Amino acid sequence: MSRPNAKSIDLDEIGPGSAFSRDALSSPKPSTVPEPRSLELDRRALTILRQNEWGGYTLPTRGLYPYQWNWDSMFVALGLAEFDLDRAWTEVETLFEGQWANGMAAHIVFRQDDPSYFPGPSIWRAEGSELPTSGCSQPPVASTVVRDLYEREPVSGRAYLEKLFPKLMAWHRWFHTMRVISGGAAIAVTHPWESGRDNSPDWDAALANVDPAGIAPYTRRDTGHVDAAMRPTSAEYDRYLKLVEYGRQTGWDHAHITREGPFAVADPGVTFILMRADRDLKALALILDKQDSAHEIDTWLYHAEEAADYLWSETMGAYAARDLRTDKAATGVSSVAFLSYYAGISVPRRDAKLQVTLQRILDAAPYALPSFDPEHPRFDSRRYWRGPAWAVVNYLVSRGLAEYGFILKAERIRGDTRRMIRKSGFFEYFDPITGAGAGGDDFAWTAAMWLCWASPTTDAS
Ligand code: DGY
Repeated sequence: MSRPNAKSIDLDEIGPGSAFSRDALSSPKPSTVPEPRSLELDRRALTILRQNEWGGYTLPTRGLYPYQWNWDSMFVALGLAEFDLDRAWTEVETLFEGQWANGMAAHIVFRQDDPSYFPGPSIWRAEGSELPTSGCSQPPVASTVVRDLYEREPVSGRAYLEKLFPKLMAWHRWFHTMRVISGGAAIAVTHPWESGRDNSPDWDAALANVDPAGIAPYTRRDTGHVDAAMRPTSAEYDRYLKLVEYGRQTGWDHAHITREGPFAVADPGVTFILMRADRDLKALALILDKQDSAHEIDTWLYHAEEAADYLWSETMGAYAARDLRTDKAATGVSSVAFLSYYAGISVPRRDAKLQVTLQRILDAAPYALPSFDPEHPRFDSRRYWRGPAWAVVNYLVSRGLAEYGFILKAERIRGDTRRMIRKSGFFEYFDPITGAGAGGDDFAWTAAMWLCWASPTTDAS
């Protein structure tokens, strides 16, 4: 795993007998000898990254996703860094070619129109950047990735860092001003696509309040590439389109959309990922001796604990999404609930409960980590973000757990990611009950996660 932000933990403070202390005291030793099958998968992963390359950026997979996606590209950069660090930096640079004048790094950078994807640039009609893009953002993993790339080779990374730093600042500032409702600290998503977890049950209640009446007729393209049973339903798609129409009608006025739009949900995923990214961006500011930026980031981080408090659900023993229009919390546990460690949030009183919840979910899923609680009635093992396990979320959750000393759980999640890839290949996501692949095949971010984290050859390096 790349650079951990190791935290020192006081076991006595957590309390004896907690899941934390059990984990921390019995860390398994990873095997350091990769088998031939792993080397073959390393080669295959590398080929997938090369095959999905499209100039200076990488397609998530051919057919289903023919453009540059924001967080996909950043995870891909971590995979590319394993064999071509300059190309990894280019992946980050090309993402920011689509940055808006107001700071937003869009969730899709279109560049050209491809009829195999819907909704394309003519539907979004988003004009905030010189390139055609979508009108919302995606989970901001970029600053953490930039820090990882920089720390691999600070000398060659310095010039890239200097160029990217102001862009990252502008994007974080956009989140902290445009996606926070007055006085609130947690980050809102105003479209399920902005969360990266399109059809998670986290959005069900808020989406049910979006009236899709009057949307223009449309034809989905995704279900022409992938089994419809693995994708969002038509009812969800109608609402996704309604939200795009609404945004377009406002001229993509992001502040207005967050304040007044039909959908605004505080998302533990984006909130925790941004919190971690803020900490990494501050470290980068100090490397560049940008004290003013570091102070500005401190004002964002000042609200971190308040945001975590807001998202905590004592009833569920987990962090949960919360509808900002109704103030109601989601009723089931998503995998992003466990990103609190990755975000640098550890509240001993809560951690004991959170670890029990995580253990329950791990016990219920032969292949970790299901994106949604397998014991909840809305769990669906093959339908996108309603149950399947995703290598990228596994990586983030496992990284955070490892940084806080929960080594057994971190390694369980990593080991299961390895098993799913070995069993089924480089799919977009995996059924957490059977380990079968689902969604798109030859998927770039799964290949990248294999190369930088799940492959046994990363133990040996
Ligand atoms: C899609 O088109 O399915 C994407 O998830 C939107 O980002």
